[in-house]
Amino acid sequence: MSPLLAALNGQRPAHLPVWFMRQAGRSLPEYKEVRGSTTILEACLRPDLAAEITLQPVRRHRVDAAIFFSDIMTPLVLAGVGVEIHSGVGPVIDEPIRTAADVDRLVAHTMDDVSAITEAVRHVVAELGEETPLIGFAGAPFTLAAYLVEGRGSRDHLAARSMMHADPESWHRLLDWCARLSGQFLTAQVDAGARAVQLFDSWAGALTRADYVSAVAPHSATALAAVAGRVPRIHFGVGTRHLLTDMAACGVEAMGIDYRTPLDEAAWLLPGLPLQGNIDPALLAAGWDALEAHARDVVERGKAAPAHVVNLGHGVPPTTDPGVITDLVALLHEL
Ligand code: CP3
Repeated sequence: MSPLLAALNGQRPAHLPVWFMRQAGRSLPEYKEVRGSTTILEACLRPDLAAEITLQPVRRHRVDAAIFFSDIMTPLVLAGVGVEIHSGVGPVIDEPIRTAADVDRLVAHTMDDVSAITEAVRHVVAELGEETPLIGFAGAPFTLAAYLVEGRGSRDHLAARSMMHADPESWHRLLDWCARLSGQFLTAQVDAGARAVQLFDSWAGALTRADYVSAVAPHSATALAAVAGRVPRIHFGVGTRHLLTDMAACGVEAMGIDYRTPLDEAAWLLPGLPLQGNIDPALLAAGWDALEAHARDVVERGKAAPAHVVNLGHGVPPTTDPGVITDLVALLHEL
């Protein structure tokens, strides 16, 4: 069994498996070259390009897994929702969802053709072989809904959190639609050969625990249930220490931990669960000595968990020197 799948099954393989969120993308010159002037969402829907970009970091860094090159917004595009990704800003929604009537219009959208996804995943899986699994992913319902309601990224997600309380009926309809869309996106990737999945709830950290449990978690559970029993499921959020046990209860085989919570503390909060994380992305630009000391500390603390998949505590910053990532992978494989 590959080191990644062994660790996600709770075992300690001969070397620690490592991959990085945003390992594909702007830190790689070969990415900028093949992307050219194609927009990110166009690139996600061109199977040849998406497959090539997915494979680039595996070839260069010798990481133990590929993550499918796509975006949490791709299913919205496939469902015909107007969205663009602006450089330095992130997703921007043409017609933000604010009223019950907006939700009615949105939930009539369906994702009918996932062949661009299926084709890209099949191509990647054929190239990777058995040793290096492909991880599929989707955005969690809250993070998708936060973009849909706010219209773009926001710091405290006031409009989304107000709607949750002002019109709970519309909120639940909106999240249920997002959950089914994400579940369908995960299923398409697993059907085509992805061997694990990660659900990204990047903005869940903005929620109170009470709101997460009553208004969000049931929908994350719906998305994750779409691939239950088929592949291991990883659940990741940012600033979510207060939500870790509730996120784990959504139905997962492993938890992703951001850089703020040391892995030994996370292991205490989540007994028996394999953990993924959590090298601080800032350390990638802090010089080798500081990075090496930090990486060794993360691995030591990770020993408190039954199994550990090394990753960052959030994505690779676009300004990262790719050579540092390659050296870090080599170091981690020796520990
Ligand atoms: O290597 C990988 O991790 C796989 C590809 C991947 C992308 N987006 C490609 C991408 C994954 C897993 C995502 C998930 C994603 N997209 C999340 C969840 C993870 C997280 O970072 O918290 C979120 C919130 C998004 C939405 C989004 N898409 C943002 C905020 C941005 C950045 C915009 C900017 O320029 O600052 C994007 C664009 C995007 N998605 C890029 C990549 C490589 C960068 C833009 C580019 O290459 O042109």
